[in-house]
Amino acid sequence: MDRIDLRSDTVTWPTPEMREAMATADVGDDVFGEDPTVNRLEAEAARRLGKEAGMFVASGTMGNLTSILAHCERGDEVILGDKAHTYLFEAGGIAALGGVHPFTLPTQPDGTLALDAIRRAFRSSDAHFPRTRLIALENTHNMAGGVVLPKAYIDEVGALAHERGVALHIDGARIFNAATALNCDPAELVAAADSVTFCLSKGLCAPVGSVVVGSRAFIERARRVRKLAGGGMRQAGILAAAGLIALEQMTQRLDEDHANARLLAEGLAEMPQIEVDLTRVQTNMVFFGLREEAGMTADELAERLQAHNIFIMSRDERTIRAVTHYWIRPEHIIQTLAALEKELA
Ligand SMILES: Cc1ncc(COP(=O)(O)O)c(C=O)c1O
Repeated sequence: MDRIDLRSDTVTWPTPEMREAMATADVGDDVFGEDPTVNRLEAEAARRLGKEAGMFVASGTMGNLTSILAHCERGDEVILGDKAHTYLFEAGGIAALGGVHPFTLPTQPDGTLALDAIRRAFRSSDAHFPRTRLIALENTHNMAGGVVLPKAYIDEVGALAHERGVALHIDGARIFNAATALNCDPAELVAAADSVTFCLSKGLCAPVGSVVVGSRAFIERARRVRKLAGGGMRQAGILAAAGLIALEQMTQRLDEDHANARLLAEGLAEMPQIEVDLTRVQTNMVFFGLREEAGMTADELAERLQAHNIFIMSRDERTIRAVTHYWIRPEHIIQTLAALEKELA
């Protein structure tokens, strides 16, 4: 029986082709800038996202941390959402390590921050206030259910930021899912951003790593922060080799994951014990709720599904998240729906 792991797209194993590429990768000392495979990955990432330069980092968290610290000095302020991954789940690193002050705005159900709220959040130059240096958006937005922020919105936020001399960073851990859902060129989608982090290790299946892209001068500053954070790696080409396959090939197939998420959501929508908003199923994530008549909590349901070798993640007592990825096929979705029907009957 296949293990059907829908907890996250971070559980993805590398593909056999990635393992082969890792075993035979050309490597060098990347802290000296001499790893040819890392250099290729960074150049290719920058090219695909329409920026001048890239930097390979160990994780999405390190990508956001190095980016934010490269934009901000101690005591500067970043405007970001109260449900942003960086705010909630990155161990407060921007404050702990960089002295950067978060100004949180309500994350709206569509993953955006209201433009008026952003306008009001800019600080004046009065000496009482921190200096507003950065706005950070997240696309796709994880806690909002994998929803997509459209290009027009990002362009508006970019224009607002730049008018005030403030930079725009995008936590694009899943930016290729966003571009796939919007059927748009990823470079165009992030054209207004000064920096972007994206992850190779989630739906793109690489075992480790993320890439930060931006201007050459920004990446130079970010490299210094990466070193400070202990993130300078040596023969990292072994990891970057898998990252290149992630970037070149796995970005081209994300619509399969989105179709599987839709298949799951549509099946769930037919179950009377479950509530799911199909309009919010835009990429590879399905958030769904258990109604009273389900007669169990999300944790209890997750435990029962484990007997079927199916793994899901409870978000709170009544809410569950399921995420599709490369290792989930349509027949796994059919099996999951059948198991859910049985357990909820
Ligand atoms: C939106 C978002 N940003 C950043 C991260 C952090 O990535 P990592 O787990 O590689 O540090 C995640 C991880 O799930 C995420 O969902």
